[in-house]
Amino acid sequence: MKIVVNGAVREIGSSPTTSLLFVLREELGVTGPKAGCQQGGCGACTVLIDGSPRRSCLLPVGYLDGAEITTVEGLGTPMSLAPVQQAFVHHYAAQCGFCTSGFLLAAQAYLDRGGTDDREAIIEALGGHVCRCTGYVKIIEAVAAAARGDTFDLTTTAPGKYTTVAGGAR
Ligand code: FES
Ligand code: FES
Repeated sequence: MKIVVNGAVREIGSSPTTSLLFVLREELGVTGPKAGCQQGGCGACTVLIDGSPRRSCLLPVGYLDGAEITTVEGLGTPMSLAPVQQAFVHHYAAQCGFCTSGFLLAAQAYLDRGGTDDREAIIEALGGHVCRCTGYVKIIEAVAAAARGDTFDLTTTAPGKYTTVAGGAR
Protein backbone atom coordinates (compact mmCIF):
# COMPACT_ATOMS: atom_id res chain seq x y z
CA MET A 1 0.00 0.00 0.00
CA LYS A 2 0.98 3.63 -0.43
CA ILE A 3 0.34 6.81 1.47
CA VAL A 4 1.28 10.36 0.54
CA VAL A 5 3.28 12.06 3.28
CA ASN A 6 3.88 15.79 2.90
CA GLY A 7 3.43 15.47 -0.85
CA ALA A 8 5.71 12.45 -1.35
CA VAL A 9 4.32 9.02 -2.23
CA ARG A 10 5.63 6.47 0.26
CA GLU A 11 5.38 2.69 -0.08
CA ILE A 12 4.51 1.07 3.25
CA GLY A 13 5.93 -2.29 4.32
CA SER A 14 4.43 -2.47 7.82
CA SER A 15 1.44 -4.70 8.44
CA PRO A 16 -1.97 -3.06 7.85
CA THR A 17 -2.75 -3.12 11.56
CA THR A 18 0.29 -1.02 12.46
CA SER A 19 -0.60 2.43 13.72
CA LEU A 20 0.03 5.35 11.42
CA LEU A 21 2.09 6.91 14.22
CA PHE A 22 4.46 3.94 14.29
CA VAL A 23 4.71 3.86 10.49
CA LEU A 24 5.52 7.56 10.30
CA ARG A 25 8.09 7.55 13.06
CA GLU A 26 9.69 4.12 12.84
CA GLU A 27 9.32 3.10 9.20
CA LEU A 28 9.48 6.45 7.44
CA GLY A 29 11.55 8.48 9.93
CA VAL A 30 9.00 11.29 10.09
CA THR A 31 9.28 12.22 13.76
CA GLY A 32 7.16 15.37 13.99
CA PRO A 33 4.17 13.39 15.31
CA LYS A 34 4.98 12.52 18.91
CA ALA A 35 4.18 9.32 20.81
CA GLY A 36 2.49 10.59 23.96
CA CYS A 37 -0.29 8.59 25.55
CA GLN A 38 -0.78 6.38 22.48
CA GLN A 39 -4.39 6.00 23.56
CA GLY A 40 -6.03 8.94 21.81
CA GLY A 41 -6.02 11.21 24.84
CA CYS A 42 -3.28 13.80 24.40
CA GLY A 43 -3.15 14.95 20.78
CA ALA A 44 0.64 14.84 20.49
CA CYS A 45 0.44 12.43 17.54
CA THR A 46 -2.03 14.53 15.55
CA VAL A 47 -1.57 14.75 11.79
CA LEU A 48 -3.81 15.97 9.00
CA ILE A 49 -5.40 13.25 6.91
CA ASP A 50 -6.92 14.65 3.77
CA GLY A 51 -7.00 17.97 5.62
CA SER A 52 -8.64 16.81 8.84
CA PRO A 53 -6.82 16.48 12.17
CA ARG A 54 -6.63 12.86 13.33
CA ARG A 55 -4.83 11.00 16.08
CA SER A 56 -2.28 8.89 14.29
CA CYS A 57 -1.80 6.57 17.28
CA LEU A 58 -5.33 5.25 16.82
CA LEU A 59 -5.31 4.71 13.06
CA PRO A 60 -4.29 1.39 11.50
CA VAL A 61 -2.33 2.28 8.41
CA GLY A 62 -4.26 -0.31 6.41
CA TYR A 63 -7.26 2.04 6.36
CA LEU A 64 -5.26 4.81 4.76
CA ASP A 65 -4.22 3.53 1.35
CA GLY A 66 -3.81 6.57 -0.90
CA ALA A 67 -4.49 9.09 1.88
CA GLU A 68 -2.76 12.48 1.93
CA ILE A 69 -1.03 12.96 5.26
CA THR A 70 0.45 16.21 6.50
CA THR A 71 2.79 16.31 9.46
CA VAL A 72 4.45 19.34 10.98
CA GLU A 73 7.34 18.78 8.58
CA GLY A 74 4.91 19.65 5.77
CA LEU A 75 3.69 22.92 7.26
CA GLY A 76 6.78 25.00 6.76
CA THR A 77 10.55 24.85 6.82
CA PRO A 78 12.97 26.28 9.38
CA MET A 79 13.78 29.09 6.96
CA SER A 80 10.18 29.59 5.85
CA LEU A 81 7.78 28.89 8.71
CA ALA A 82 4.06 28.71 8.06
CA PRO A 83 2.14 31.69 9.49
CA VAL A 84 0.79 29.61 12.38
CA GLN A 85 4.33 28.48 13.22
CA GLN A 86 5.51 32.10 13.14
CA ALA A 87 2.69 32.99 15.52
CA PHE A 88 3.72 30.23 17.93
CA VAL A 89 7.29 31.53 17.92
CA HIS A 90 6.26 35.14 18.36
CA HIS A 91 3.84 34.41 21.20
CA TYR A 92 6.09 31.92 23.06
CA ALA A 93 3.49 29.19 22.49
CA ALA A 94 6.00 26.35 22.73
CA GLN A 95 8.28 25.39 25.55
CA CYS A 96 9.44 21.76 25.58
CA GLY A 97 7.68 21.36 22.23
CA PHE A 98 6.40 17.84 22.79
CA CYS A 99 2.79 18.87 22.22
CA THR A 100 3.55 21.51 19.64
CA SER A 101 3.29 19.63 16.37
CA GLY A 102 -0.13 18.34 17.35
CA PHE A 103 -1.32 21.80 18.35
CA LEU A 104 0.04 23.30 15.13
CA LEU A 105 -1.79 20.81 12.94
CA ALA A 106 -5.07 21.19 14.83
CA ALA A 107 -4.64 24.96 14.57
CA GLN A 108 -3.85 24.76 10.86
CA ALA A 109 -7.02 22.73 10.27
CA TYR A 110 -8.99 25.33 12.24
CA LEU A 111 -7.53 28.15 10.16
CA ASP A 112 -8.13 26.24 6.93
CA ARG A 113 -11.81 25.99 7.91
CA GLY A 114 -11.93 29.79 8.16
CA GLY A 115 -11.51 29.90 11.93
CA THR A 116 -11.48 33.34 13.53
CA ASP A 117 -9.72 34.81 16.55
CA ASP A 118 -12.71 33.97 18.75
CA ARG A 119 -11.24 32.57 21.95
CA GLU A 120 -13.99 30.05 22.65
CA ALA A 121 -13.91 28.73 19.10
CA ILE A 122 -10.15 28.27 19.33
CA ILE A 123 -10.47 26.45 22.64
CA GLU A 124 -13.04 24.13 21.10
CA ALA A 125 -10.86 23.49 18.04
CA LEU A 126 -7.89 22.60 20.25
CA GLY A 127 -9.96 20.50 22.63
CA GLY A 128 -8.29 17.30 23.77
CA HIS A 129 -4.77 18.57 23.11
CA VAL A 130 -2.73 18.48 26.27
CA CYS A 131 0.22 20.74 27.06
CA ARG A 132 2.17 20.32 30.29
CA CYS A 133 4.20 23.51 29.91
CA THR A 134 2.52 26.61 28.54
CA GLY A 135 -0.74 26.93 30.43
CA TYR A 136 -2.53 27.29 27.04
CA VAL A 137 -2.83 31.09 27.19
CA LYS A 138 -0.01 31.65 24.73
CA ILE A 139 -1.15 28.88 22.42
CA ILE A 140 -4.59 30.46 22.17
CA GLU A 141 -3.04 33.89 21.62
CA ALA A 142 -0.90 32.48 18.83
CA VAL A 143 -3.79 30.84 17.02
CA ALA A 144 -5.85 34.02 17.35
CA ALA A 145 -2.96 36.02 15.88
CA ALA A 146 -2.68 33.64 12.96
CA ALA A 147 -6.44 33.85 12.40
CA ARG A 148 -6.22 37.65 12.29
CA GLY A 149 -3.43 37.43 9.76
CA ASP A 150 -0.93 39.16 12.03
CA THR A 151 2.59 39.29 10.65
CA PHE A 152 5.70 38.98 12.74
CA ASP A 153 9.28 40.06 12.84
CA LEU A 154 10.74 36.91 14.34
CA THR A 155 13.87 38.72 15.44
CA THR A 156 11.63 40.06 18.19
CA THR A 157 8.88 38.51 20.26
CA ALA A 158 5.86 40.03 21.91
CA PRO A 159 7.84 42.67 23.83
CA GLY A 160 6.70 43.39 27.35
CA LYS A 161 3.69 41.16 27.01
CA TYR A 162 4.96 37.91 28.42
CA THR A 163 7.49 36.64 30.85
CA THR A 164 9.39 33.62 29.61
CA VAL A 165 8.59 31.17 32.40
CA ALA A 166 5.89 28.52 32.20
CA GLY A 167 2.48 29.91 33.00
CA GLY A 168 3.90 33.41 33.26
CA ALA A 169 1.50 35.19 30.90
CA ARG A 170 0.43 38.50 32.27
S1 FES B 1 -0.21 9.81 21.39
FE1 FES B 1 -2.00 9.81 20.17
S2 FES B 1 -3.43 10.95 21.33
FE2 FES B 1 -1.71 10.76 22.67
S1 FES C 1 5.21 22.84 25.30
FE1 FES C 1 5.74 21.20 26.62
S2 FES C 1 4.00 19.89 26.60
FE2 FES C 1 3.41 21.65 25.49
